[in-house]
Amino acid sequence: MTKIISVNPENFNIKEIDDAAKIIKDGGLCAFPTETVYGLGAGIYYPDAIKNIFKAKGRPQDNPLIVHISSFDEIYPLVKEVPESAIKLAENFWGGPLTIILPRSEKIINEISAGLDTVAIRLPSHPVACALIKAAGCPIAAPSANLSGKPSPTVAKHVIDDLSGKIDCIIDGGSAFYGLESTVCDLTSEVPTVLRPGAVTAEQIRSVLGSVSFSNAADAPKSPGMKYTHYAPNAPMVIVDAENAIDIINEKATENSGVLYYKCDRENFKSQYCLCAGNDIYEFAANYFYNLRRFDEMGVESIFAMSPEKDGMGQALWNRLLKSAGGNIICE
Ligand code: TXA
Ligand code: MG
Repeated sequence: MTKIISVNPENFNIKEIDDAAKIIKDGGLCAFPTETVYGLGAGIYYPDAIKNIFKAKGRPQDNPLIVHISSFDEIYPLVKEVPESAIKLAENFWGGPLTIILPRSEKIINEISAGLDTVAIRLPSHPVACALIKAAGCPIAAPSANLSGKPSPTVAKHVIDDLSGKIDCIIDGGSAFYGLESTVCDLTSEVPTVLRPGAVTAEQIRSVLGSVSFSNAADAPKSPGMKYTHYAPNAPMVIVDAENAIDIINEKATENSGVLYYKCDRENFKSQYCLCAGNDIYEFAANYFYNLRRFDEMGVESIFAMSPEKDGMGQALWNRLLKSAGGNIICE
């Protein structure tokens, strides 16, 4: 049985999450909201619970987990040293949608780091996530709370759909604010390197640290998770990145295609399954995984997604779109 605890993130009493914290302290698994996506958490000092995260998600063993902390000082026991760059990033972007990679200390068990000599750490801004970590009394390792390969969950219902019966508890704290996973920035390389783009942009990191580079995950994935098929809806998807996107979609889509339209009207399309991506890039991102799961529920036979802007938050969104579409893109 999976226990569901509903809380109002803007107005909750710490006591409301006592049961969830107790589950973590007893070595159980609890899904919880963060500002990016829902996470599936276990206390970092509970090796069996950490193993169960991989089992519940069907996650490959070589894909390491992010360790979540609730205040900056909790980082010290987890890493070999805290460089100036980490302090600067934390001052500017924590709590928030940024994960940093540093050399790990012996406190981080192999299962968490999947055998790497580094660890990924994030201090979220979500009050429920922070309260849970505090109440549990130890940092919480948490991947996104979806079945491996599926779109990340942005509401508790997605977690219930994927993991109900397989985990002990789900805290329902409403919708995730950003809707895309955190930026992952590696501070162990000579130049700070963005391994996964997110709401904290490479430009923002450059403005704080002076330099930044991108890893080409296709060549040699430094972030092991980036090599797997991800965020995939059931139906094949294509991104349409063209001025005449509406004409292209109407020409290629069937009645049973899904259309994710952006900055135009539903009336433009013949397909019966049209979803609005949002009115701007932030809404597009916040709704994106949600919309993919709605297309799954509708049982569409293919998905045509109109392309968003490419800069800022658009970088993170394009990264997810390309993965969902398996690189399928029409540009004309
Ligand atoms: O926003 C987020 O980051 C969410 C919430 C729950 O915090 N978590 C999340 O976790 O997206 P997950 O496991 O779905 O993605 C973690 C990514 C994976 O691509 C993984 O390979 C990478 O971070 N990662 C974790 N530890 C790493 C390490 N030591 N070195 C390089 N990449 C690492
Ligand atoms: Mg994930």
